[in-house]
Amino acid sequence: MFEKVLTKHINMPESRKIEYYEKHGGFQAWKKVLKNMEPDQVIAEVKESNLRGRGGAGFPAGMKWSFVPKTTEKPHYMLVNADESEPGTFKDRLLMDGIPHSVIEGAMIGSYAIRANTCYIYIRGEFVKEARILEQAIQEAYDKGYLGKNILGSGYDLDMYVHRGAGAYICGEETGLIESLEGKRGWPRIKPPFPAIEGVFRCPTIVNNVETLACVPYIIERGAEWFKSIGPESGPGPKLFCLSGHVKNPGVYELPMGIPLKELIYEYGGGILNDKKLKAVIPGGSSVPILTADEIDVNMDFDSLAKIGSMLGSAGVIVMDEDTDMVSALLNLIHFYRHESCGQCTPCREGTNWAEKLLKRIHSGEGTLKDVDLLEEVANNIGFRTICPLGDAAAMPIQSFLKKFRHEFEAKVKKNVA
Ligand SMILES: Cc1cc2nc3c(=O)[nH]c(=O)nc-3n(C[C@H](O)[C@H](O)[C@H](O)COP(=O)(O)O)c2cc1C
Ligand code: SF4
Repeated sequence: MFEKVLTKHINMPESRKIEYYEKHGGFQAWKKVLKNMEPDQVIAEVKESNLRGRGGAGFPAGMKWSFVPKTTEKPHYMLVNADESEPGTFKDRLLMDGIPHSVIEGAMIGSYAIRANTCYIYIRGEFVKEARILEQAIQEAYDKGYLGKNILGSGYDLDMYVHRGAGAYICGEETGLIESLEGKRGWPRIKPPFPAIEGVFRCPTIVNNVETLACVPYIIERGAEWFKSIGPESGPGPKLFCLSGHVKNPGVYELPMGIPLKELIYEYGGGILNDKKLKAVIPGGSSVPILTADEIDVNMDFDSLAKIGSMLGSAGVIVMDEDTDMVSALLNLIHFYRHESCGQCTPCREGTNWAEKLLKRIHSGEGTLKDVDLLEEVANNIGFRTICPLGDAAAMPIQSFLKKFRHEFEAKVKKNVA
């Protein structure tokens, strides 16, 4: 029987208050870490749990932490990625709003593990309410002695700050975030060096997603074996799925990693709105390759989705019914990527611009079959040729929409072909 942990207390009165959180076991993991565990033991436990990052790439959290040098010649930093801008994704917001202390406790444990004495929560500019909630929660944690100098007599010091972004999608990319935090334009950096070696202020830095860190207190409290017992071993744990689009019951669902996509849509989501037929699903936020209705017999985990050529990404599941105009849907997505491209790399800056132009032409019925081919060529020349993965994120929807729904694009331009 699956037990919800991440969202268990959300919507309970007072769930944002530290007293409520403590009453339900909050900060026990933090006390355990400070009293009984060395930083490397924390890393080992998280490594053992196979916790994979919930921000999109699915990189193992414990392994990432282990890349931070053990020395403290330079200060180390923990950055919480609360930018949550991927279209179709709205899970981190729920955690910050409903149970902010779980995010804070996870960030504290992560900071300790990588020997950081400073932690920044970089939050999307539009999340004004959530930023205030976090600030209030951090203050409560200072007042209780869970943050500050010599925490609970352990000799460990940690300060935590909320830093508000200004509404740019690219500042969710970890090196764009780092630049922005330094007060510069959010232009992603070329890697290597990776942030674990040279991140914010050129110091060792870990960037983790809100949900990733919210899992950590439970791993410490209940153990890696408990975490691994939920879902597939290669990427287990409780997982938040964001369900949106043409479903009867959209929302955030906490379920075991690996839940069948069909079950998510038809049981939890209540099926397709107005009992229409399903046409397509984007399973992991707007950046990942789309699935047709025939491809939904798949489990929602990193490896299962990769096997069929898509990705779990940020687990933003966008459902499209039989009446969805795929050209219009793709135009909508590409308009977003064109607007959010930071402009540093030519393939991304120019490619997203040309792709939007071509799609507008095709959508308006003024395009030709050559435009459809050209659109594909443009996408093929953006992907994997850029500094950051936003280029790939723009190319993958184009490539997959054309692969699976080309007939709809061609139907729009047929009248113009002699
Ligand atoms: C264009 C772009 C936008 C991103 N936006 C976010 C975001 O809003 N939140 C997030 O956690 N990760 C985002 N990521 C992924 C981060 O770069 C990074 O992989 C992640 O924060 C690492 O945390 P994790 O290992 O806990 O998943 C984005 C990546 C790209 C390429
Ligand atoms: S891929 Fe796009 S968003 Fe990423 S650095 Fe290059 S231009 Fe900027």
